[in-house]
Amino acid sequence: MRTKVFVSQKIFNEAVAMLKKDFEVEENQTDVPLPTNILIQKLQGKLGAIILLTDQINESLLSKCLDLKIICNVAVGYNNIDIEACTRRKIMVTNTPGVLDDTTADFTWALLLATARRVVEADHYLRSLKWERWGLMDFLGYDIHHKVLGICGLGRIGQGVARRAKGFGMKILYTDVSQVASSIEEDLGAHFVDKKTLLAKSDFVTLHVPLLPETTHYISTADFSWMKPTSILINASRGPVVDEKALVRALKERKIAGAGLDVYENEPEVEPDLIQMRNVVLAPHIASATFETRLRMTMMAAENLAAGLTGKKPPNLVNPEVFQ
Ligand code: DGY
Repeated sequence: MRTKVFVSQKIFNEAVAMLKKDFEVEENQTDVPLPTNILIQKLQGKLGAIILLTDQINESLLSKCLDLKIICNVAVGYNNIDIEACTRRKIMVTNTPGVLDDTTADFTWALLLATARRVVEADHYLRSLKWERWGLMDFLGYDIHHKVLGICGLGRIGQGVARRAKGFGMKILYTDVSQVASSIEEDLGAHFVDKKTLLAKSDFVTLHVPLLPETTHYISTADFSWMKPTSILINASRGPVVDEKALVRALKERKIAGAGLDVYENEPEVEPDLIQMRNVVLAPHIASATFETRLRMTMMAAENLAAGLTGKKPPNLVNPEVFQ
């Protein structure tokens, strides 16, 4: 009998075809996450699962899916999975690091440029047929070149954002739990500062920290008070890293000039006030969404699953202590 695996939502056919060579695959072929009770039913009797970040894996679900040996998230972030509970139950968890770094860094820049130069607002204006003549004072935005970029979290994605900033002649500040190697700092021209200094000195603040208990509301009311009234906040990490209500207040009180957001505290909900604000650019969590990258992420998840269920160490094991 072939080993049974479950694919929780629509993924690329290439990955399903690869899985079908070795496993009996059951799929939810829609792009809608299954209700928890159905997901539990589907995972019962399955040894492996490919899931997306909109599927929640917690102790209560795991306690009813006792055959699971490996869960493969098609995402680099894995805050949708209770890793501790998986580890306790000796279930391997994998993610898809690396392949989306440049794509996410590109999109961070798309948000930064669009927000600073009011691209979305200008597009709406033109499409609503309001443009009558060129105006010297129309759609004034903020320069990006030679300004100060503050990067919170100089991991792989943060470094990708910094590399791109060099082309704009920006001064780069960063903050993190620890300083990166001096060779990386020199290469990027990045200067390590504390968070308060970064917020106070940066014209653009971009967030690239993982979502952890200690980074939840990493940017909140007090932090906005340190920022320049002309500064712009960019978030393409995880929504709860920013206190969304505090962000709304900061924008209303002109503590900052604008925000470019790809992620939200309670996705797919967005603070209603943000929807009304013209100095905010909003995207629906698409920073890694290119044909190439999403396919690579999916194939990686399938490769992780195949390795894990054939006795090999999955290349992107998040909880290596489970593998023996
Ligand atoms: C991730 O991988 O964690 C992104 O948020 C989605 O690609």
